[in-house]
Amino acid sequence: MLNFALIGAGRIGKMHAEIINANPETNLKFVYDVNKEFASDVANINNAEVVKNPEDAITSFDTNAVLIASATPTHIQFIKMAANAGKAVFCEKPIDLDIDKVNKCKEELKDIKSPIQIGFNRRFDLSHSKAQQARVNKEIGNLEMVIITSRDPAAPGLDYLNAAGGFFRDTTIHDFDLSRFILGDDPIIQVSAFGENLFDENAKIANDFDTAMFILKSKSGVLIHINNSRRAVYGYDQRVEVFGSKGMVISNNQTPNSLERYTSNSTSSKDLIHFFFIERYQQAYRDQFNSFVETIKTNSKPMVTFEDGRKALIIANAAYEAFESKKTVDINYE
Ligand SMILES: NC(=O)c1ccc[n+]([C@@H]2O[C@H](COP(=O)([O-])OP(=O)(O)OC[C@H]3O[C@@H](n4cnc5c(N)ncnc54)[C@H](O)[C@@H]3O)[C@@H](O)[C@H]2O)c1
Repeated sequence: MLNFALIGAGRIGKMHAEIINANPETNLKFVYDVNKEFASDVANINNAEVVKNPEDAITSFDTNAVLIASATPTHIQFIKMAANAGKAVFCEKPIDLDIDKVNKCKEELKDIKSPIQIGFNRRFDLSHSKAQQARVNKEIGNLEMVIITSRDPAAPGLDYLNAAGGFFRDTTIHDFDLSRFILGDDPIIQVSAFGENLFDENAKIANDFDTAMFILKSKSGVLIHINNSRRAVYGYDQRVEVFGSKGMVISNNQTPNSLERYTSNSTSSKDLIHFFFIERYQQAYRDQFNSFVETIKTNSKPMVTFEDGRKALIIANAAYEAFESKKTVDINYE
């Protein structure tokens, strides 16, 4: 049995706690959150112990692995603490918002053997990963275009916007990573970016965007289009189109059931698509965790590495540069 320490018991931390205990090979042992009420709630529901400080949870002899789901600016300190204590680490995306801090962490941990996996859950979605496989096995011939639509159902509050670090680094980072995943060893080398405030007052106050579009290009010339919105009145809109010389595959939106209605008013009207990420990517979050457990058990490389997290942040930074300069920007991964 692998014992886990959970750091951060907020929105996504709660979900991870349940996933840890749902796996027969893992057990939630400790929970730490600066908000003691959140920590107690999650610990009580999941039969775990609340600890007063993160060191007690992370460095405990009883802890085998650490799952970091706290606020983004706290990730690096906990990654270092856990990796230096020899624990396997799963850390939510993004690693941090500051690439200098990420590079420094990479350097400091270069000799550490503990696996570190980053929470880019979309790679584990069965439909998205089948779309990626269609590129790998050449089912669609030579890859020419990737189109990703990713729109949230509703804009978050001002507190979230002020803390999250901006649309490109917090949200689009998932799509930058998904693009990298689909392209495999063909690196993304250029980006152009547009961001707008079309409807959300809070995004305006936070000096952030509610709508964005990107065009990226890979070394071999594959073109990638990403579009994001903080509002889609019909639910969490998640679609991926992979187009090549022999055809196309589409990973489409999913509804909680497949019922279609045919009435005197409409034909083929379906139920709403899933509301948001926890419902839409339930299977992906579970499989992501199971993959991390396999990594620990088999002492193998994580499916999503620290370097994947670093590269996605580099693309996000280049996208900001492109937006500000109104020019297409070359991406440098050094
Ligand atoms: N992979 C995904 O799909 C996904 C989805 C949502 C959030 N996230 C990421 O997960 C992280 C948490 O996001 P969330 O939506 O759950 O936010 P949240 O605000 O609901 O939860 C964050 C928690 O961290 C706690 N916290 C803050 N500082 C801390 C510290 N120093 N030590 C311990 N706990 C601390 C807060 O009290 C809070 O309970 C973020 O990095 C976010 O980007 C990933």
